[in-house]
Amino acid sequence: MDPASNQMSQWAQQNKDNSPATLSAGQPVDNLTESMTVGPRGPIVLNDLVLINNLASFDRERVPERVVHAKGSGAFGYFEVTTDYLAQFCRAKMFDKVGKRTPMLARFSQVSLESGSADTVRDPRGFALKFYTEEGNWDMVGNNTPIFFISDPMLFPSLIHVNKRNPVTHLKDPNMKWDFFSLRPESVHQVTRLYHDLGTPDGWRHMDGFGSHTFKNVNSKGEAFFVKYHFRTDQGVKNLPAAKAAEIAGMDPDYATRDLFNAIAEGNCPSWTLYVQVATPEQVKQFPFNPFDVTKVWSEEDYPLKEVGRFTLNKNPTNWHMDIESAAFNPGNLVPGIEPSPDKMLQARLFSYGDTQRYRLGPNHEQLPVNRPLNFPNPNYQKDGPQRVDNQDGKPNYFPNSFNGPGEAPSAAWDVNDTASGNVARYPIDTDHYWQCKAMWDQMTPDEQDRLTTNMAESVKMAAEPIRNRWYGVLEKVDKTYASQVHQKVDQAHKEGNIVGAVTLA
Ligand code: HEM
Repeated sequence: MDPASNQMSQWAQQNKDNSPATLSAGQPVDNLTESMTVGPRGPIVLNDLVLINNLASFDRERVPERVVHAKGSGAFGYFEVTTDYLAQFCRAKMFDKVGKRTPMLARFSQVSLESGSADTVRDPRGFALKFYTEEGNWDMVGNNTPIFFISDPMLFPSLIHVNKRNPVTHLKDPNMKWDFFSLRPESVHQVTRLYHDLGTPDGWRHMDGFGSHTFKNVNSKGEAFFVKYHFRTDQGVKNLPAAKAAEIAGMDPDYATRDLFNAIAEGNCPSWTLYVQVATPEQVKQFPFNPFDVTKVWSEEDYPLKEVGRFTLNKNPTNWHMDIESAAFNPGNLVPGIEPSPDKMLQARLFSYGDTQRYRLGPNHEQLPVNRPLNFPNPNYQKDGPQRVDNQDGKPNYFPNSFNGPGEAPSAAWDVNDTASGNVARYPIDTDHYWQCKAMWDQMTPDEQDRLTTNMAESVKMAAEPIRNRWYGVLEKVDKTYASQVHQKVDQAHKEGNIVGAVTLA
């Protein structure tokens, strides 16, 4: 049997003492199978503390699942610096020496559906990394794609609603999805990538990861740079043909979870190499497009990828609920030298994750073992509240104070030369949505184009005609052949009466 299937027997071999179970407050339990009743068929008595203790615990077993990226798993490992390239642009201590290792956690996920959904659905994949650095935690919460569907965070809840379930039928609804995409043409670049082979990666070990946003890095001289993070899989990129992905979704919906667990358990530890693209503030001013727009990539010719380091995952979770479900990845967890760029999406994410995690896991979720920084218990003036386990001992609970309470670190200040000015208003996004998507289409082989348009037609065919026509209009602005291929395949399906598709898989 593979390691994942064998987990229970392995535990039994290592734990032979069979010690008695206890109530949650530690008292031994006399009986684990029979509730206490009045006579053999009588009602249960309220003083059956064993039953009440067990049910009360069971009744509270779930924390709310993540509102997005609910299905996923992950593993622990380490990041190792392999070049001194980034140290000249970034003062974060985790990059300051070749050979330096930083412990970390990775979680990979599907985006749209529930915690029970299949691992091989067509969806972007989450690529969330938590680095436990000596200066606190840095969370790099990316995806397996360098771009995103939208560039203004105001639209994020709608984007997610159309990709989840219709609120009346509780079904995936192609009308909702294609209505939204066709009304928001900035999505076309990411939608193209989604219906390409890359939309169904072969597990998580065989996909690349991206920070996607542009970030700011600041070096020890206080100079700022703009940076994109790319994590290239050392296992090689492998994708599943659409039919195979659908078959696996039925046969083994936990395919990627199992693959990652078994690979690590067998010592076949996956790794990814970190590369960066770096631009100076002067260079980003010269960009012919908004360099902070997450629907666009930076040219790798103008801004070549430079190697920085590698992370390796070598330890499976030992308690999935505590290690993975309770993990709180937050783009607002930044360390000195790594700052947000003005990307509006990233700015909104700085708020949204901590906010949802205070609801999902509780206000003191950063004290859970998986989220604790290396310097836990870390000194500050925060106290009390539900489930707090470190309460600052006898330290003063106010600042300033004359009793040696924790002080300030002026060197941790963000880019002191940062200037932003302009009228406070709601600004429309840029309208140059098509040219990067066109370049992507042009780089594909005819076979790739054919598979892309087949995959897309499989889903578009289920939307209403006016919505389909609007979508063809968007594709035409990218490339006329692209639009006509999708249009023809949809028409053909309608002619054949073949309009029922694998809705949940597209
Ligand atoms: C305004 C835009 C966005 C908002 C408001 C948003 C919000 C959220 C929320 C509320 C969660 C659940 C977090 C939790 O329960 O722990 C989440 C998870 C996640 N998001 Fe976003 N998101 C946005 C855009 C993005 C983008 C652009 C990316 C990738 C580049 C991304 C990647 C992820 C990942 C990987 C997770 C799962 C983290 C984990 O494994 O726990 N999100 N997002």
